[in-house]
Amino acid sequence: MRRRLILGNWKMHKTVSEAEATVQDLLDRMKDYRGPYEWGIAPPFTAISALRTLREGTSMLLGAQNCHPEPQGAFTGEISVTMLQDLGVDFVIVGHSERRHIFGEDDAFIARKVRAVLDHGMTPVLCIGERLEEREQGHTEAVVKHQLLGSLAHVSPEEIPRVVLAYEPVWAIGTGKTATPETAQEVHAFIRTVLRDLGADAEEVTILYGGSVKPENVTNLTRMPDIDGALVGGASLQSQSFAHIINAAFPNA
Ligand code: PGA
Repeated sequence: MRRRLILGNWKMHKTVSEAEATVQDLLDRMKDYRGPYEWGIAPPFTAISALRTLREGTSMLLGAQNCHPEPQGAFTGEISVTMLQDLGVDFVIVGHSERRHIFGEDDAFIARKVRAVLDHGMTPVLCIGERLEEREQGHTEAVVKHQLLGSLAHVSPEEIPRVVLAYEPVWAIGTGKTATPETAQEVHAFIRTVLRDLGADAEEVTILYGGSVKPENVTNLTRMPDIDGALVGGASLQSQSFAHIINAAFPNA
């Protein structure tokens, strides 16, 4: 059975005290949740340590938004997988489109991160997705396949189910434009065929959808057979809307 996950990506939002207040409220709202979804938050690096203390003894997963693949070294401004492991981090978002497009990360670098996260016992949440012009030119499948092959270059077929994938069409991120459930489902199903071609047990791989997920659209998205949860940006910043999303995710998934 593949994992069902609702993960929040806070991006560059919240001071430590703001992060603590939001998570405390979220934990209060989620304390009776026994649903089918695991859930967690990837705060900025600066708040990980504080949230680690708060989430102790709860079911909240703790994530990071990025990492450097080397354990240590002369990489000014970077945070290594070893440091994240030391902080009790469960999952690391890798290859987010903002990292790819604003900070110029390529599939080769992302592939090293995926490998390093796995080697340190954490779950990589590997993001892939096409830009608007690529979709309009009919290149969605080619782009997604290229990103998958490149980013999974150092992962054996047997290990692929340890990687969580997040399909995030770039045109849907932070824009309020969600992919329709049918559009997202089509790409998710395609991703499974690529994974199958790689020799992986594709039915065991968790594939999240991301891009303007909100309390109002999460149910219909997670109703789709190949959508196993969501990676949520803006709507995860408020505890009320994030708790609502987790509770509204399709229960029979
Ligand atoms: P959004 O962000 O929910 O604000 O569109 C999603 C993401 O970037 O992971």
